[in-house]
Amino acid sequence: MSNYQSELDKQGLRGFLEFVEANHPDQLLRIREPVKAEYEMTAIVFELERAGRSPVVIFENVEGHDMPVVTNIAGNRDLLAAILEVDSADLPTAFRERCQDYLPVERVDSAPWQEVAIEGDDLDLAALPIPMQFDVDKAPYITAGQITARDPETGVDTTGFHRLMVSGRNRLGVSLHSRRRMYEFHRRAEARGESLPAAITLGIHPLHYMGSMAYHYPPGVRKYEIIGALFGEPYKVAECGVPGLEIPAGAEIVIEGEILADTHEPEGPFGEFTGYASYRSTQNVFVAKRIQMRRDAMFHSVVSGMSSDHILVSCITREGEILNALRRNLPNVRAVHVPRITCGGLMAIVSMKKTAPGEPQQAIMAALGTEFYTKIVIVVDEDVNIFELSDVMWAVATRVRADEDLIFIPGAKGAILDPTSDPDTFTLTKVGVDATKPDGRDFAERLVISDAQRARGREILAAAGITL
Ligand SMILES: Cc1cc2nc3c(=O)[nH]c(=O)nc-3n(C[C@H](O)[C@H](O)[C@H](O)COP(=O)(O)O)c2cc1C
Repeated sequence: MSNYQSELDKQGLRGFLEFVEANHPDQLLRIREPVKAEYEMTAIVFELERAGRSPVVIFENVEGHDMPVVTNIAGNRDLLAAILEVDSADLPTAFRERCQDYLPVERVDSAPWQEVAIEGDDLDLAALPIPMQFDVDKAPYITAGQITARDPETGVDTTGFHRLMVSGRNRLGVSLHSRRRMYEFHRRAEARGESLPAAITLGIHPLHYMGSMAYHYPPGVRKYEIIGALFGEPYKVAECGVPGLEIPAGAEIVIEGEILADTHEPEGPFGEFTGYASYRSTQNVFVAKRIQMRRDAMFHSVVSGMSSDHILVSCITREGEILNALRRNLPNVRAVHVPRITCGGLMAIVSMKKTAPGEPQQAIMAALGTEFYTKIVIVVDEDVNIFELSDVMWAVATRVRADEDLIFIPGAKGAILDPTSDPDTFTLTKVGVDATKPDGRDFAERLVISDAQRARGREILAAAGITL
């Protein structure tokens, strides 16, 4: 491989796999046994998770296909921390800080995904090893497709994951339910009576995954500039066949096409990050016009449902964003935890050293206002370990007086996929829970067993032949 190509690969899926193989070989699993594209790959990753493991998995032998499937590239917090060269605990703040060092892209003349082009009657999406993940899924889904498109008004591009259901040889149902830039760009194109030219990129590096999930940044900034900031060097991009669209040069597969104007077709159900079958969708349609790919392309798939691969990055990005929003005003906020079990964003827990009455309420308003997915915020004192949900529940049970400590915000914009949001308006009631100790009155002290007492306890047990 030429140096030039390996430079491009470094910022793509291949570079990441090389990094893991070289530095964390125990976190890379190659499965050579034959697996079916239907259900088996998803079941394997969920079984690994149940056993407390979350390695990157390469399925080398997917029945009926020559192309390997790579999955779970973002399900391991330690690996994500390693690529940013920080400790796991510092990941949210490091992510948030680095995202702001926007770097202009570097345009390159050619990319390895230009090796093969498939179009016209030869184009058939079924040739790709696209998995079916859950029984409820209507059809195979491309889950790791980064869709890139430009704002029809300003020309600024964006990139992000949007689920894509195979509905024909060159047709994909797509849901833009997160209602951020892509949704808005499509709406603006439609308002002009135009379809939205777009391209789907497969085979990205986890830093691209993370950067694509950033949402607090000025409108003129390109997501590619944020991704470059995370790499600490300009992101290398190359032009594809969609006029004016630039695509990560180190990727594996590019599907060029457009999201149609004024066209809606059934899409879903699909097993979503909430742990439920999702029947809600914006029901848009992507028509593929050409596939470009490497001769030895790898297919990337995100494990869907409540897997770490699907949720962990959302937790990290939201922890970073909420902490940043809170600390602007409240320097006594210690940390924020968005537990994976709350679907990567529906709930946030805030730790603060309360110095004055009303501060938890201030924190609740700021955290709930950070973005619309977060609908429950719990604020606890600094003695509570926010990374242990049992400790948080103890604080809620013993420090909350329901008539004084709950704040409701009815009619707020919620996530379309949140099963509690109104099926027509997608609004819901947000709630803040002040689980800090009540102000200005005696409150009994928490029971503790000192380190010395614990050590003595262990000594006596050891003498009795019991080791813990
Ligand atoms: C694995 C994964 C799948 C996602 N699928 C969708 C989707 O199907 N539709 C959607 O609107 N957002 C989806 N999202 C969320 C968006 O990618 C995310 O909100 C992104 O920041 C939107 O970018 P944009 O501002 O460019 O639209 C997904 C996120 C992840 C991590």
